[in-house]
Amino acid sequence: MIQGTIARITGPVVEAKNMVGSRMYDITRVGEIGLIGEIIKMRRDVAVIQVYEDTSGLTVGESVTSEESSLAVELGPGLLTSIYDGIQRPLPIISKESGVYIPKGSSVSPLDRDRKWHFSPTASVGDSVIAGDIVGTVQETSSIVHKIMIPDGTQGEITKIKEGDYKIDEAVGEIEGEVPLFMRQTWPVRKPRPRKRKLDPETPLITGQRVFDTLFPIPKGGSAIIPGGFGTGKTVTEQTLAKWADADIIIYVGCGERGNEMTEVLTEFPELVDPKSGAPLMDRTVLIANTSNMPVAAREASIYTGITIAEYYRDMGYDVALMADSTSRWGEALREVSGRLEEMPGEEGYPAYLATRLANFYERAGRVVASGSQDRVGSVTIIGAVSPPGGDFSEPMTQNSLRIAGAFWALDTNLAHRRHFPAINWIKSYSLFLDRIQEYYSEHVSSNYGQLRQEAMEILQRESELQEIVQLIGPDALPESERALLEVARMLREDFLQQFAFHEVDAFCPLEKQLEMLNVILTFHKSAAEAIRRGVILTQITELPLKSRISRMKEIANDQALEELKSLTSEVGKTIAEIEVL
Ligand SMILES: Nc1ncnc2c1ncn2[C@@H]1O[C@H](COP(=O)(O)OP(=O)(O)OP(=O)(O)O)[C@@H](O)[C@H]1O
Ligand SMILES: [Mg+2]
Repeated sequence: MIQGTIARITGPVVEAKNMVGSRMYDITRVGEIGLIGEIIKMRRDVAVIQVYEDTSGLTVGESVTSEESSLAVELGPGLLTSIYDGIQRPLPIISKESGVYIPKGSSVSPLDRDRKWHFSPTASVGDSVIAGDIVGTVQETSSIVHKIMIPDGTQGEITKIKEGDYKIDEAVGEIEGEVPLFMRQTWPVRKPRPRKRKLDPETPLITGQRVFDTLFPIPKGGSAIIPGGFGTGKTVTEQTLAKWADADIIIYVGCGERGNEMTEVLTEFPELVDPKSGAPLMDRTVLIANTSNMPVAAREASIYTGITIAEYYRDMGYDVALMADSTSRWGEALREVSGRLEEMPGEEGYPAYLATRLANFYERAGRVVASGSQDRVGSVTIIGAVSPPGGDFSEPMTQNSLRIAGAFWALDTNLAHRRHFPAINWIKSYSLFLDRIQEYYSEHVSSNYGQLRQEAMEILQRESELQEIVQLIGPDALPESERALLEVARMLREDFLQQFAFHEVDAFCPLEKQLEMLNVILTFHKSAAEAIRRGVILTQITELPLKSRISRMKEIANDQALEELKSLTSEVGKTIAEIEVL
């Protein structure tokens, strides 16, 4: 063990001397109280340490010991349902009044050491195993089976393995050479977990949100960012996705800006019900929470802790979605620590390595064949919220994130003010995954998906051009056909894109229903255009009672929707075609 002394303290950054032999990213215990920190710079015998706990009260001359290991997470049964801080300490006391509180210097174990788990082997004595191989399972929660994998660096023949109830510190078996096998393992958070190979993501992550699934879809293993100004719906969107997206496991990293925002998440999240199973959503969730009263450095670590846990479940063969709300708070932590280190600042005071760090994080998303001799496919999807100050997307966090993420879901302050929710701007947003997902949808959902989507986008695009004209000269100056288009665009916005996150039925919209809703509106569009060409007047069309049925489409019970909407589509076509010219 290397032991030095504190030479300087600047907020969360501490310099310790006599630290010869320490390495970058080694974990240290700082001061008599043993605050947890990580070495982020070595200068001869001086270690610069970012401390994950409040450093007030610390004095120069106190001791520092290096643990000669990197910041790591503990992985094993019991992760699900847990609520951790940025360095995986369980947040035991959560209360509305006091927020979140952990005694300083405490080293509470991340996983419960006393709880017994029922281990069922899937491998037998005599089997030859390598790192990544599954040797048994544990029913971790009502919905998730935890796969026990051989940790990195271990291989050989199994000499002992036995079904039974075990604590995580009790060996469930042995590998030749008397190497005990545990249900837990550790992994350094800054290092991506190994995988056999990366695959192209191809299956969509179905979110049940029309604006995402239909207009700007992402695949399992893809990444998206949600930038949005104050109060535009980042948190509601992230939570809606956590609840409805068809991922097996949710890792939710919350970096609250306001002290009470995270407390809200901490009290509300455990109440959420998994719509698929009726069990608590926490049964397949790990929550990592940082409140603004926690030191910045812990915030910096939190996304690595989150992504490492995500990769671990990916390796079991699960589809994992990681939500980070908001990555800007992480960026600010990076900026603050960099400032304390007196590094040369880059754009807007962020360190020059901001882009690299962001890339390293988003690159850990992906669909992979997991390590080991059994071919298993799993994925990690990353959905990161970004909070640009003043909602200005030209700032460094938004710009650097959008260069790496595959989809850009732009929240819009104006739309949020008009209470158009989700306030995703359909002109600014995009998905680079569109082509690949189009193939999937065409094959599995509807062969005309590509065409429907394109028509809808063209109408919305045309609307935004026409709106400029309307503002100058009023709608009456437009020809009937263009006024009809504006009416259809309004339908697309209000009857299709708007989706209230808390509606009983509409909170989740199945893909087939989404496409048929779109078909209804586009059939209306096509039929109206034809009728107008015949000489029908627009008001004859807009007065049709059918229109109110279109505006209530989203409320049709999901299991009946497809049938009802199909008959609505043909009725729309027929009724408009039968209008007589006056
Ligand atoms: N899809 C939605 N359906 C219904 N209401 C929504 C939706 N999205 C956002 N809202 C409304 O907008 C409000 C603000 O949303 P939210 O708290 O998610 O914003 P935010 O961007 O996270 O804000 P902050 O910048 O403070 O973190 C919500 O309380 C809710 O009323
Ligand atoms: Mg928020």
